[in-house]
Amino acid sequence: MQYTTITSIFLLTISLLTQSTSAIGTLGINVASSGVDGNCRDSDSWSEALEKASAFTNYIKTYAVSDCNMLENIVPALNSNTNMKVWMGVWEVDEAHFDAEKDALTTYLPSISKDSIAGISVGSEALYRGDLTPQALASKISEIKSLLSDITDKDGNSYSGVSVGTVDSWNIWVNGTNAPAIQAADYIMVNAFPFWQYQTANNQSHSLVDDVMQAVKAIQEAKGTDDFYISVGETGAPTGGNELTSGQAPLTVDNASDLFQEGICTLLAYGIDVNIFELQDEPTKPLATADDGSSSDVERHWGVYDTDYNLKYSLTCSYGSN
Ligand SMILES: *[C@@H]1O[C@H](CO)[C@@H](O)[C@H](O)[C@H]1NC(C)=O
Ligand SMILES: *[C@@H]1O[C@H](CO)[C@@H](O)[C@H](O)[C@H]1NC(C)=O
Ligand SMILES: *[C@@H]1O[C@H](CO)[C@@H](O)[C@H](O)[C@H]1NC(C)=O
Repeated sequence: MQYTTITSIFLLTISLLTQSTSAIGTLGINVASSGVDGNCRDSDSWSEALEKASAFTNYIKTYAVSDCNMLENIVPALNSNTNMKVWMGVWEVDEAHFDAEKDALTTYLPSISKDSIAGISVGSEALYRGDLTPQALASKISEIKSLLSDITDKDGNSYSGVSVGTVDSWNIWVNGTNAPAIQAADYIMVNAFPFWQYQTANNQSHSLVDDVMQAVKAIQEAKGTDDFYISVGETGAPTGGNELTSGQAPLTVDNASDLFQEGICTLLAYGIDVNIFELQDEPTKPLATADDGSSSDVERHWGVYDTDYNLKYSLTCSYGSN
């Protein structure tokens, strides 16, 4: 079974490579605004994070611009790493928070280059949590688009035209009631975690590819076109943590590496950009309560790097270069 998968990926890759290397997807990485000690990243910590990320990608993804003074603190790192681009998250939970986010964009976007921004994502799993209706999210996306048209970068270029989209769980996008958010967005990111689907290590890659492809189909139908940027906002596997109440076994570094090689590399070979979750382990992250009622520390073990920036497993697809 696994050999069949690997062989077909290999053949697919060869045929994509002979047509155009640009058909291969690009890897990115999610970076939390707090470091391994649980404190907010300062400018030095952001610089180190970007340097470590640049070992395997030119794209990072973040969650909020005002929390932890994220946008203010990342300015020096972005201005000295001109190859690095950010999928920049804007948090939306309530109006006061959203206003603080808009203030941070207005205040600090003028200090960086427009070229440092890959896109701006309004909300991260806001629909999944029920924070916003799809109509309210659509209106916040429009609000950020109009705010950007009034901001210029450090070289005097307008931020008008920078893509504004959103990120949510794959099952949210498969649910047709969320179409208004898709219609308002310039792009959609899809989150999919086989571990939280209670998939075994054996089946995690099948589950990942299946879930993402279901979301791609639904998003294209809601948008009415296949000419629309869809990527994976978060995926990956934990490399430790306790067993869940439902009996879901903890995963290991080998299992996470398998998800990368078999699942994430398959999506990349299909031409889908994938942002892995996440850069570094977060040993102080609060315990998560899973849908099965488990109190679990697995959320602390999701880094591709450990707390000392040792890479746990290779992020190069073994079928070739990504
Ligand atoms: C689809 O989303 C709506 C609105 O959030 C929700 O009420 C409904 O239960 C969802 N349906 C499924 C099948 O998840
Ligand atoms: C998960 O990884 C462990 C070793 O780290 C291995 O013993 C086990 O077979 C793996 N599970 C699967 C299904 O590959
Ligand atoms: C494995 O994943 C596939 C694809 O999502 C799914 O259809 C199947 O039910 C999964 N198998 C198990 C045992 O959960």
